[in-house]
Amino acid sequence: MMFVLLDFMLLLFLASVFVSSACARPSSYAVWAADSAIARGQGNGLDDNGNPLVSYEHGELQWALRLLYEQTGNKTYYDYIKTGVDNVVASDGSVGGGYSATQFQLDPLRVGPTFLYLYNQTNQTKYRKAADEFRNQFPIHSRTAQGQFWHKKIYPNQGWLDGIYMGDIFYAAYTQMFQPTNNTAWDDITLQFTLMFNNTIQNSATPNHTFTGLLYHGYDYSHSTIWADPDRGHSPEIWIRALGWYSMALVDALAIIPTSHPGHAVLLNILRTLVPRIVAATDPTSGVWWLVMTQPGRAGNYFESSGAAMFVYSLLKAVRVGYVTDSDGKIVASAKKAYQYMVDNWVVDHGDGTMDWKNTVQVGSLNTDGSYAYYIGVPTDLNDLKGLAAFALASIEYEQS
Ligand SMILES: *[C@@H]1O[C@H](CO)[C@@H](O)[C@H](O)[C@H]1NC(C)=O
Ligand SMILES: *[C@@H]1O[C@H](CO)[C@@H](O)[C@H](O)[C@H]1NC(C)=O
Ligand SMILES: *[C@@H]1O[C@H](CO)[C@@H](O)[C@H](O)[C@H]1NC(C)=O
Ligand SMILES: *[C@@H]1O[C@H](CO)[C@@H](O)[C@H](O)[C@H]1NC(C)=O
Ligand SMILES: *[C@@H]1O[C@H](CO)[C@@H](O)[C@H](O)[C@H]1NC(C)=O
Ligand SMILES: *[C@@H]1O[C@H](CO)[C@@H](O)[C@H](O)[C@H]1NC(C)=O
Repeated sequence: MMFVLLDFMLLLFLASVFVSSACARPSSYAVWAADSAIARGQGNGLDDNGNPLVSYEHGELQWALRLLYEQTGNKTYYDYIKTGVDNVVASDGSVGGGYSATQFQLDPLRVGPTFLYLYNQTNQTKYRKAADEFRNQFPIHSRTAQGQFWHKKIYPNQGWLDGIYMGDIFYAAYTQMFQPTNNTAWDDITLQFTLMFNNTIQNSATPNHTFTGLLYHGYDYSHSTIWADPDRGHSPEIWIRALGWYSMALVDALAIIPTSHPGHAVLLNILRTLVPRIVAATDPTSGVWWLVMTQPGRAGNYFESSGAAMFVYSLLKAVRVGYVTDSDGKIVASAKKAYQYMVDNWVVDHGDGTMDWKNTVQVGSLNTDGSYAYYIGVPTDLNDLKGLAAFALASIEYEQS
């Protein structure tokens, strides 16, 4: 009888092993997210029609794949990064994929850190030339009178939080690699973060807007845009993903800017100001954040997934590296609660070995009236790379916390 029972249990065990390997799902969410993106050909330096495309989303995924490669040693990730970049960088080092320096866009520069990484890994001149081409945009890129890079030539005098993640991680990584003692460059990078912070920070509650002390999406230094507030020209709402980009930029730039440069302390102060406010802005039940953070709970508002993943990455990295102290454990507890909500609600097993990622808003542009109605009216996408790559990043942090 006993043997029969043991045999039966062995059978159950073997059956469960078989079932789990049949639906092979990596035990790491970071690996699952990355492998799913790769299986779908996302972030590979090509657009949906197979034409070369320089895209910040690809740069964001490449950053995650690089971290995964360093952690796992799995060369699949490295090869995917390199293939993606080789789709947009010609053998002479010129950058294709729709890049044009004279449009003064910060977005494409987000692929620049990958050029630098590949140069470091291969010593191939073409990657250095590609990085130089991006770096040469800065001297011609228009700025506000205070010195902020315009978000794009078509958005004169506007600073958007998004642009800090897109442009300044590249600026910092380039400076670190080729001009480590160029204090003019370190000063300039610090200025970009500071101007954005000073000109967008919410100083008080306004009618129908909860006080969060966080950063509005952007500002127009010329006050000429429809959405520009008389107070510093800032836009009307705090949009989750813009602040998500900015917070990721802070923790990533802090790892690059030398501690000996005063900018390091400036960025630390900004991060230490924002982190407790990001934690305080969580929805108490779910533990995640509203799309429009200034109007929690208002009809039409919802919990958005890309911004949540970006915050979780930033909070966990900030504590892990020691940029902020978490003496009562509240920051990590908050990030972990949010992470749990993310995997319970936004990760769906696709059934073919890949996962789907839900609820990432397609865009949030200040080429609009920047109103509440605008932000909540933008559709969400399944497997939007901006959110999926952020989830890979959040998982990389979560799995080592
Ligand atoms: C590396 O990752 C790929 C998927 O991206 C996977 O198919 C492969 O088995 C992994 N290799 C190792 C050695 O883990
Ligand atoms: C790149 O060049 C440096 C200096 O010339 C050398 O030390 C390094 O080993 C090279 N790396 C590779 C991957 O070839
Ligand atoms: C370049 O790569 C080497 C070895 O992988 C590493 O030690 C070094 O920090 C890298 N340099 C930069 C600027 O990333
Ligand atoms: C240092 O950085 C500044 C600002 O980006 C730039 O104008 C200058 O050319 C750089 N200097 C050197 C020596 O590379
Ligand atoms: C930002 O604001 C702080 C505090 O008011 C001030 O000390 C700093 O000079 C400002 N920085 C810039 C670049 O405007
Ligand atoms: C505040 O919200 C209420 C209810 O949604 C609305 O009737 C009112 O017009 C709003 N006030 C402002 C200043 O937006």
